Amino acid sequence: MRIENKHIILGVTGSISAYKSAMIASHLTQLGARVDVILTKNACQFIAPLTFETLTHRRVYTDTFEHDFTGEVAHIAIARRADLVLLAPASANLIGKLAHGIADDMLTSTMLAVTAPIWIAPAMNSFMFENPAVQENLDILRRRGMHIIEPASGVLACGTTGRGRMPEPDALVEIVVRELALDKTLYGKRVLVSAGATREYLDAVRFLSNPSTGKMGIACARVARMMGATVTLVCGHIETPLPDDVQVIRVTNAEEMAKAMFLQAPEADIIVMTAAVSDFTPRVRANEKVHKTDAATQVDFVPTTDILKTLGTQKRKGQFICGFCMETDDLLSRAESKRVAKNADMIVANSIKAPGCGFGHDTNGVTLVTQQGCLALPICPKEEVAVKIFEKILELWSPNS
Ligand SMILES: Cc1cc2nc3c(=O)[nH]c(=O)nc-3n(C[C@H](O)[C@H](O)[C@H](O)COP(=O)(O)O)c2cc1C
Repeated sequence: MRIENKHIILGVTGSISAYKSAMIASHLTQLGARVDVILTKNACQFIAPLTFETLTHRRVYTDTFEHDFTGEVAHIAIARRADLVLLAPASANLIGKLAHGIADDMLTSTMLAVTAPIWIAPAMNSFMFENPAVQENLDILRRRGMHIIEPASGVLACGTTGRGRMPEPDALVEIVVRELALDKTLYGKRVLVSAGATREYLDAVRFLSNPSTGKMGIACARVARMMGATVTLVCGHIETPLPDDVQVIRVTNAEEMAKAMFLQAPEADIIVMTAAVSDFTPRVRANEKVHKTDAATQVDFVPTTDILKTLGTQKRKGQFICGFCMETDDLLSRAESKRVAKNADMIVANSIKAPGCGFGHDTNGVTLVTQQGCLALPICPKEEVAVKIFEKILELWSPNS
């Protein structure tokens, strides 16, 4: 997901984690952002401005009074063009200064002129972090609407173990992308997504499943969150990292998935069912491993609950239900029949045969089947497919439908 031409201020202070900020600056720049890095004087003890200049291809700021007249007052100009500020690492000293309106260097002076959203990643020794002065200062900043990113726990550079580590660069970049990549058109909506494969156990060690990796469902959950929704993700077996800031409910088999979905569905405005749920489960499941000598050569299966159909029957006013359908033949006619039979508002028809589509791929090519007709999307990354799915849902969704 790109953040083309977004202006980001990356404020770096005198903490041992300052080296991680180089990775943040580099990654954001590669995603298309214009990153204005401001280093405090003490940050320069830990990392050189040249590192950031080289990575961002932009001037780096360290001094409010730097004398190369360009016609603008730097700390005001940078603050006014910012779409977002990330302070990482934020020292105890910076947090204290921000809380009390002190503006005695380039970073703190700029911060007083910023009106864009501010994300703060405190990083310090755990005793410093737990100190009431720091905690009260953080409370002041929270009350002013700044976002405080919870530090990670673990072994700290000073040798102690506890809370105070700066989260890894990827996690901080993910926050920036989530905030800036997409318009918040799903703000205020609750989105329920199912993802991954179910596993129907035959005995303690064997199961019936499918090759779903959960990539499409995780892309939907991540994109819905980026578009401002509150997201719950019910997921079976997945082989993809989970998105941040999403409520995750883990399940194993179709019955558990059905229970979780039925429990969450009444609260949801939009339900997107990408999970590959088994249609059958063994009639009997052995609790222990079945040995070769005891094994029956035939297994009896019974149908599982049809989750989409049940949700369609219970659909309330203002709820939008989107199912997925993967077929080897007659894809579109089967998708349309499924949409009608299950009272779904949309079926995303997924061809398993087209190259670059279906299980495990990072790309997908789908057709959105609705009452209004079919919209074939070109093969593209699964996150872009997810954006198109939610754009279509927003086009069709109405509180009274
Ligand atoms: C080796 C070393 C590591 C430090 N690490 C941190 C840190 O992780 N967090 C912190 O708040 N202060 C840390 N400090 C102390 C700050 O550098 C000090 O409070 C300084 O005044 C911060 O200035 P600044 O906020 O203007 O960058 C460290 C100091 C040293 C010598």
